[in-house]
Amino acid sequence: MKIKIQREEVTEYEVALENATLLELLNEIKTKQDATLTYSSGCRSSVCGSCSVRVNGKEVLACGYKVQEGDLVEPLQNVSVLRDLVVDMERAYEFNQKAKAWQTNESNIALTQEDEKRNEVQSDCILCGSCYSACPVYAVNEEFLGPFALTRVWRYVSDAREAGVSAKIDTIQTNGVWDCTLCSACTVVCPQGISSKADIEKLRSKSAIQGYSDPSFANFGGGFGFDGSPSF
Ligand code: SF4
Ligand code: SF4
Ligand code: FES
Repeated sequence: MKIKIQREEVTEYEVALENATLLELLNEIKTKQDATLTYSSGCRSSVCGSCSVRVNGKEVLACGYKVQEGDLVEPLQNVSVLRDLVVDMERAYEFNQKAKAWQTNESNIALTQEDEKRNEVQSDCILCGSCYSACPVYAVNEEFLGPFALTRVWRYVSDAREAGVSAKIDTIQTNGVWDCTLCSACTVVCPQGISSKADIEKLRSKSAIQGYSDPSFANFGGGFGFDGSPSF
């Protein structure tokens, strides 16, 4: 089987492996053909999030993707490439800090089963970075808080124990919820089935309740009222 890998230039490799994952194939190339090939991996079971790359333009986990003849493998986009398929995710991770995506002022409220269910999906994020790579807004606005930081904000805003909801909503108004185009690209590529788009929509509703409105409507002299209903 032949595949192409984007390194300094696109390099083609031929490997005698059938029905292999991309990570198995990369390991085969590295051990038998080219020790200089560089990529990240860890758990080999879709848990650690370190092996995300793009195949034929779509983000995948290398340990979970079955390679096809002629595939083009590239590093994630919208982040700096350190070498070959290894990228620097630090900048995207910093948005968790910027968005205050953690629990503050925890109260003593005991969570019900329903409460726990509400945000258990968001807690499954493995920080693979695929959603940042796929996001067309992050591609043109490096200050956009982006999908996984906003998903983490929703995870805490929707937590019944969180007493700092209002401050969290204040934090995500600039380069945050209103900048997302709701295109779903992040949702489509997430290996954990997290819909950052849906989380951002819920954060918009919370923002409207808190008195914020979509700035693009404000330009036309309208907006959303304090109760979230349209007011033109
Ligand atoms: S839905 Fe929003 S956050 Fe997700 S990829 Fe599209 S613009 Fe980015
Ligand atoms: S939200 Fe999904 S795609 Fe984004 S970093 Fe987390 S696991 Fe990866
Ligand atoms: S090696 Fe951990 S997710 Fe692929």
